[in-house]
Amino acid sequence: MGSLIGIGSAMSLQGMAKEGLAQDIKDSILSLHQLNVEDAVKQEYLWKRVQRAYAKSSILNLNNGGVSPQPFVVQEAEARYKEIINEAPSYYMWRVYAKEREGIRRALARLAGCLTDEIAITRNTTESINTVMLGLDWKKGDEVILTRQDYSTVKIGWEQLAKRKKVKLIWVDLPLPIEDEDEIVKLYTEQFSKRTKAINITQIINWTGQILPVSAIRKICDAAREKGIFTIVDGAHALAQINFRVSDLGCDAFASSLHKWLCAPFGTGILYIKKDRIKDVWPQYPSKDPEGDNIRKFEHLGTVPLSAILAISQAIHFHNDIGIELKESRLRYLKDYWCNALKDKVQLHTSMKPEYACAIGLFSVEGVSTSKILEYLTKNRIHATNSTVVDLKGVRISPNVYTTIAELDRMLDVVKEVL
Ligand SMILES: Cc1ncc(COP(=O)(O)O)c(C=O)c1O
Repeated sequence: MGSLIGIGSAMSLQGMAKEGLAQDIKDSILSLHQLNVEDAVKQEYLWKRVQRAYAKSSILNLNNGGVSPQPFVVQEAEARYKEIINEAPSYYMWRVYAKEREGIRRALARLAGCLTDEIAITRNTTESINTVMLGLDWKKGDEVILTRQDYSTVKIGWEQLAKRKKVKLIWVDLPLPIEDEDEIVKLYTEQFSKRTKAINITQIINWTGQILPVSAIRKICDAAREKGIFTIVDGAHALAQINFRVSDLGCDAFASSLHKWLCAPFGTGILYIKKDRIKDVWPQYPSKDPEGDNIRKFEHLGTVPLSAILAISQAIHFHNDIGIELKESRLRYLKDYWCNALKDKVQLHTSMKPEYACAIGLFSVEGVSTSKILEYLTKNRIHATNSTVVDLKGVRISPNVYTTIAELDRMLDVVKEVL
């Protein structure tokens, strides 16, 4: 028997233009909250009503791992802020709304589970990780541990650093799916040497949806800390997809993109740095006190699109209305649904154990190219993506809270036709 979900505030929908619709979405979320999580995830008629918080699309979008759409409340908030700011940009941006960034920072810290003074607002995960990798003091011969399954732009960053600073990259190969916590920890820690300066750990591997459990990351980070190794967690997919606190990871730095699972405006992200490590990272864009421990030193970027940043608060409200416990369970329920329907017919590259996967799954079909399957899906107006890493290649499916079982059935019909 699962826990009863706490009743959400459903506050986010109050600013929505269509009041009747907003009330209906609010009611359906409240109805979900009256049920146990196990029952709530299965209520298609309620989720169908939640779906109306998002724009109708003529394309079935099953690539939410790339970028997620924003619910109307977020789009409307950003548009409203843009309109107001345009009345007198310097007044609103620098006098009125500049202070509001602090409110957003507080809300993000609550969402992430860390101190307010540990959150910098950035544009995305790539920028956040680059800030750390280019901001540490490197010596020739220092080593960085990373995996071949890390994200492409992140690997490119480390490769450039290796060239420029004569740093050595120590590559780990994660056999995916991996369902053994001790093995995960060992794969990283057995690479520690006297020269190891930093580790890059991807919390949810985008290619297959593999989750590295919080407890495994914690063990790696604790072991690294003892040796003075700086730990960086790439949490692009973790924040707002699964229930955890950044402070529980025990890492020195954590990066995420808010335009993925939080459904916040495009081009918004966070960089967390543990309070006592902020002074060890130089900001990318010079600040007055670059060696200080004020996290705001990472935000010296000049004039930025403030309306997008301000609308993050609506995305957090909407996310909190559904609640991370229910959201994570629904996302896993959707993934399990299509994976179970296909598992005897295709090769699944994603774990079916809840602690090792959530929303994202990868499959391939022996003898049928990924591009052929994608071609069929596209022809049927279904958007999924190709995922290729090391020796894995397949079709990645990533639904979101607005995806229904009927839509997954539509995708399954097309895949079965291909088979
Ligand atoms: C694991 C991982 N890290 C980093 C990124 C980069 O995210 P962004 O493009 O928002 O910087 C992605 C994007 O898909 C990702 O999957």
